[in-house]
Parts: sequence; structure tokens; C-alpha cells
Amino acid sequence: MSSLASLVLLVTTVTGIIIPTKREYGKALSGTFIHVTAGHLDFHLDPYYVEGTDVSSFCHTKDGDTEKGVAGRFGTLGSKCDSPTALVEAAFAFMKAQAPDADFVIYTGDSTRHDRDKKFLRTKEQVIEIQKIIVNYFLKGFSTVIPIVGNNDVDKHNDIKDFDEQYLEFKSIWEPYNLNYGSEFDRAGYYTQDISSNLRTINLNTLSFSKKNKLVDECNATDSSGRHQLDWFKKSLEDVRRDGSKAYILAHIPPNSKKDKHFYRESCYSEYYSILGSYSDVILAHFSGHFNHDQLTAVLKNTEDGTYTRVAALGEEEVPMTAQELEKYKVVGVLLNAPSIIPEKNPAVRIYKYETEGTRFPVGTILDWDQYYANLEEANQSGNLKFKLEYTASKLYNVDHFDASGLQNVFEAISLNENVRTQYTNIRNVLGNEAPVEY
Ligand SMILES: *[C@@H]1O[C@H](CO)[C@@H](O)[C@H](O)[C@H]1NC(C)=O
Ligand SMILES: *[C@@H]1O[C@H](CO)[C@@H](O)[C@H](O)[C@H]1NC(C)=O
Repeated sequence: MSSLASLVLLVTTVTGIIIPTKREYGKALSGTFIHVTAGHLDFHLDPYYVEGTDVSSFCHTKDGDTEKGVAGRFGTLGSKCDSPTALVEAAFAFMKAQAPDADFVIYTGDSTRHDRDKKFLRTKEQVIEIQKIIVNYFLKGFSTVIPIVGNNDVDKHNDIKDFDEQYLEFKSIWEPYNLNYGSEFDRAGYYTQDISSNLRTINLNTLSFSKKNKLVDECNATDSSGRHQLDWFKKSLEDVRRDGSKAYILAHIPPNSKKDKHFYRESCYSEYYSILGSYSDVILAHFSGHFNHDQLTAVLKNTEDGTYTRVAALGEEEVPMTAQELEKYKVVGVLLNAPSIIPEKNPAVRIYKYETEGTRFPVGTILDWDQYYANLEEANQSGNLKFKLEYTASKLYNVDHFDASGLQNVFEAISLNENVRTQYTNIRNVLGNEAPVEY
């Protein structure tokens, strides 16, 4: 039995009528924030992308090989080309128009183009330059932007170790954001940031955990980069708990997997979930990018032995559990992976609504999100790129807030309701117009 279908057994009552409350927020916070990211992407801006060049040249030149297609104005779907300036500008214009009052933007990394074109390798200067261009776009539209390091933001794709001078470079490029970078940032690229007196973001550097980073070791190795960061992560969560605050976790690479292979090193992966579970009383949600899918994942608690594991809604069924086993598990944590700008799939931007009053739910509780996407095919043809609403989470899932109990209901909806399951499968891949979302 699939883990997802089995999860239904856990649930005895079907809740979930949408409560269409008109939300009134405090003056200080508007109650919306934006999440931009990409999977193997995020922005992945490539200022050297030229419309009309050949896809086989990674959209840099006309090399006479048109078999793989021709570079479109706003990007070329499903190709190995990165995001042209036109797409990145359209995305920023959209965000400014759609959420001008957003309290903050979480930007889960990967500003720069890939280093795929052997005839036009990325230089260290370009990596820095592109990072600066993205900062300038953000500064023109938003006052609070919280960035983290992506695996393509470092000079040598995926590889970085503690005490690398690039952390000081990031700090200097991101200086205009005016955030709370501490000594850990200088050493290894992670930091915390207060949003309000009772809400904080913990901004990780997931490169310390990544299997692809050749310069780091397992998290159970003494003195490893991952070891230091997980210790800091726990301490930061202790601080949140002590202060009576709540936390959002920002991660570039999600603790998920592709074809059963975890993105994180094994000991990092298991301890990571154990931390997410142990501090589920203070963690409101975990946000990530990197993997391009619109993916829901739950932290599960084994109620018999108190250990933690996880289940991803469809797509990854790497926790095959029997019905009996499933009776033991309870959703305690919420992981939201948003799709990205890079046109591997249709480009996407997400706008969250969160609790600011703290009357019904703790401040910071995710109440809803609107997922927007652009249809590249149409944009290339018309010469005009428009972001459209793909779906509104509360309507799609019939859930009015997205804490652990809300996510339990979402998993239930995906399991029980074939229509919701089909919709989720489509939006997981940001199919957009090919399969319009119907509620
Ligand atoms: C983008 O533009 C090119 C050229 O106009 C076109 O051939 C292609 O089909 C368009 N669509 C996508 C999704 O790349
Ligand atoms: C550390 O974790 C790895 C991966 O799970 C494992 O193979 C190794 O035996 C562990 N080492 C120690 C010292 O526990």
C-alpha cells in the first residue's frame, strides 16, 4: 500500500469546509509575503541569453544546430538554457504589481546561471555580478528581502567549505538588505533574522548537508561543516523556544529526494528530520526551492518510539509503510517546496498569507498561498509575459490554515479525493494551461 493512501487510515473524521473569512491584519504587518525560488533554478539569471540563438548552445549563440530548438524571448521551456533578462524583469514587475505591500520576500537562492556551456564558462566575476544584479532588482521593489545561499551561487557549483572567502563576498553584496548576519555567516553562510518580536527566520546553508558538495563530510563526523551547522540549528531553535517566538526555516536544497536518493548526506538527513520533529512546537513551516517541484512534505512522528520520519505527498514514496505502521504516525511538521523561475518548468512565483494577529493561530501560521505561473509558450508567441493565478491553496485543499493539522487534512484530501489528487499531480509539475486547476 502506498504511504499516502495509507495515511488516510490515520484520519477518522473529515474536516474542512472553507471558511471564507475576510482577514483584517494589524497595521504594522500586511500579512503577505513572497517566496521566490527555483529548483535547479530559482532565478538563474543568464544575462548572456540571446533570443533566437540555438538551444544546443545553451541559448548563447547560433551554432547551426537547430535540432534542439531556438531560444524564445522569455526562455525556452524544458531546455538547458537559463533565465533571460526579459523573464527575470517580468517576474520582478509582476511581484511588485501583485504584492506591493508584502512584508518581506524569502528568496531561497540560486541567482546565477549554470555553468553548462563549455564554450562560455562562468567566471568568478560573472557569478558576483549576477548576484549583484538580482540584489538591485529586489531593492527596487521590496524593503525586506531574506536571501540564502544556493548551490549555483558559489563559484564552483555545489562546492564550498567553512571559512571560504565567498561568505564575506555574499555578506558584502547582500549588505544593502541590512540583515542580521552574525559571525556564523562569515564562517559558513547561515544566520537568523527577526521578522517581528514573535517570528524569526532561521536561514540555513544547505550546501553543508548536500551529497554533491565534495568539500564537506557527513554530519556525524566530528568537526564537519554539517555537524557545526546542525548544532547551531538546534541552538537557534532553543533560542526561539526560550524567547516564546516561532520560526520559519529557509533552505535552498530541500530534505527530499530524487528517485529514492536523498539530497542530503544520510546522517545529515536523519538528524535534520529529528530536529524538525523535536522542535515542531516552534517551527511553523519549512520553505525550500532547488528542486523545481511544487511539493508538499510532512514531518511524521512515530508515536510508539518518539522518532521522526517524513512522507512526501506523491512523487516520492520512499517511506513505504504498512497500514499497521501507519497507525503509529502523526503529522507534526510542514515542508513547502515552491516551484521556481528558471524555465525548466513554467516559471512560478508564490505569495503567502500568514497570521499576524495571533488570535486564532500563532503569529506566522501560514493561512494560504496563491501560486502564480506564466505560460512561456504563450509569452514567447505574444511577446508579452503574463503571470496568472494557478491555484489558491485554501480552495484547492479545502483547508483554512496550514499548520500540522492543516497539512494532515491536505494529505487526506489528496488521498481521498481523486480530483484533488489529479490537481496536485498537475501543479506539482506546474503544468499551467495544459491542465487548468479546477476546484
Ligand atoms: C518560445 O519561443 C520560441 C521562439 O519564439 C518558440 O519556438 C517556443 O515554442 C516558445 N515556447 C517555449 C515554451 O519555449
Ligand atoms: C555516519 O553516518 C554514515 C551514513 O549514515 C554511516 O555510514 C557511518 O557509519 C556513520 N558514522 C558513525 C561514526 O556513526
